[in-house]
Amino acid sequence: MASASRQLLARCMSGSAAAKKLVIKHVTVIGGGLMGSGIAQVAAATGHTVVLVDQTDDILKKSAKGIEDSLKRVAKKMFADKPEASSQFIQKTLSNLSTSTDAATVVHSTDLVVEAIVENLEVKHELFKRLDKFAPEHTIFASNTSSLPITDIANSTTRQDRFGGLHFFNPVPMMKLVEVIKTPMTSQTTFESLVDFSRALGKMPVSCKDTPGFVVNRLLVPYLMESVRLYERGHASKEDIDIAMKLGAGYPMGPFELLDYVGLDTSKFIIDGWHKLEPDNPLFAPSELLNKLVAENKLGKKTGEGFYKYR
Ligand SMILES: NC(=O)c1ccc[n+]([C@@H]2O[C@H](COP(=O)([O-])OP(=O)(O)OC[C@H]3O[C@@H](n4cnc5c(N)ncnc54)[C@H](O)[C@@H]3O)[C@@H](O)[C@H]2O)c1
Repeated sequence: MASASRQLLARCMSGSAAAKKLVIKHVTVIGGGLMGSGIAQVAAATGHTVVLVDQTDDILKKSAKGIEDSLKRVAKKMFADKPEASSQFIQKTLSNLSTSTDAATVVHSTDLVVEAIVENLEVKHELFKRLDKFAPEHTIFASNTSSLPITDIANSTTRQDRFGGLHFFNPVPMMKLVEVIKTPMTSQTTFESLVDFSRALGKMPVSCKDTPGFVVNRLLVPYLMESVRLYERGHASKEDIDIAMKLGAGYPMGPFELLDYVGLDTSKFIIDGWHKLEPDNPLFAPSELLNKLVAENKLGKKTGEGFYKYR
């Protein structure tokens, strides 16, 4: 065979290998906070080997303790009167899980990196730019960001085709949904690999383009802000709005209960970001009351007071 034809054939063959879906077995989760711990727990419980990475051993100790406690609760529900099966499940899950403070080293042998660190574009950029140098070619990168464009995060790497969004919901072990985000550069095989991975976790994936809030937050946050505006105008009390949405719309929590649960700072951060992107969109308009509560450090359940008092 002529050398030019051989080269062409080799290129086509390597192209078709690259086009194969990736079966994700080894996962690195970066960020051992609320979301990262949940993602690591669910991935380990479904048979993946998982390394959870954070900045210090002390943080990782807390994450491991949180995961163990959560696993016990899950196992109690799954194996109500089978204590042996329950402890086997916990042991097997924990044996799939390890921790590290050195992301660059552990990504050498990983199929997927799921990032769940602080919601700051610069910090996420710095992390992915570094990992891009150490992770193998085939490794897919995913961010769990709630409010930053996946495309902007992916631009810090040279693997935009192997980069997507995996947006989980809190608490991860309980919430069934994962939004799988495809940017204009995400390859179809990367997207399908992320969808398959979400299913392997026992979750229900839905897909969404890389747009503010994806599906759930794009609908939920304007609804929460509209509830605050209704209250600010004095049209109804917050207690009545909460009762109305629970008993009239069948929602499990009222909007003010939900805002306090999510954290008023988090909600403000999201709406401020969208307002910057689309200043003329009335759905993304800031609220004076929300800003005031955040300035007073009344952030919701976590500080003991938000729209309601918890002390
Ligand atoms: N909290 C939610 O309900 C929720 C829901 C969906 C998505 N998210 C997104 O998930 C991400 C994490 O949110 P969270 O609520 O778990 O935050 P969190 O504050 O609970 O945890 C973040 C963790 O990341 C660690 N971290 C920060 N920088 C790091 C770095 N460079 N390397 C390694 N670890 C680092 C911190 O030490 C911390 O433990 C954010 O992008 C957020 O937008 C949050």
